[in-house]
Amino acid sequence: ATQRTLSIIKPDAVAKNAIGEIISRFEKAGLKVVAAKMLKLDDDKAGGFYAEHKERPFFKDLVGFMTSGPVVVQVLEGEDAIAKNRDLMGATNPKEAAPGTIRADFAETIDANAVHGSDSPESAEREIAYFFQDSEICPR
Ligand code: CMP
Repeated sequence: ATQRTLSIIKPDAVAKNAIGEIISRFEKAGLKVVAAKMLKLDDDKAGGFYAEHKERPFFKDLVGFMTSGPVVVQVLEGEDAIAKNRDLMGATNPKEAAPGTIRADFAETIDANAVHGSDSPESAEREIAYFFQDSEICPR
C-alpha cells in the first residue's frame, strides 16, 4: 500500500554535503518527496522527537548530536515507503549496515549515522505530525 514516512538527513550528512546524494537514492527507489525543510533543532525539539529514548544511556549524546548542526526533514511517499526507506538506510549501526546502504556509505558511528527513518506506521504518523502541518504536505 502507499505509505508516508518521516526521513531526517542528520547533521553529519548535511556537513558532508550529501543531501542531494541521499535524496537521489530515495527518488531512484521510487519514493517521492512530498514535504521537506531544513531546520536547526534545539534541545526541546530534538528531545521531544526522541522522547521514547529519554531513559536510554545514549539520550544526552543523541540530543547533543542532533542539535549540532542543521538537519533536513522530509516526508517520503510511496509503495511500502516505511520498509523501503529502512532498507535504503541500512542498520542503525553503520558497522553492521549492508554494503550500498546510506549508512554504510555515509556514516561512521552509531551516533552520527547520517539518517533517521520512521520504524512503523504509528511512528510515521507521530513523527510526520511532529514536524509538518497538513498544509505543508504536497500530495503529488
Ligand atoms: P535513529 O534511527 O535516529 O534513532 C535513535 C538514534 O539513537 C539512532 O538512530 C542512533 O543514531 C542513536 N543511538 C546511539 N546509540 C544507540 C544504541 N545503542 N541503540 C540504538 N540507537 C542508538
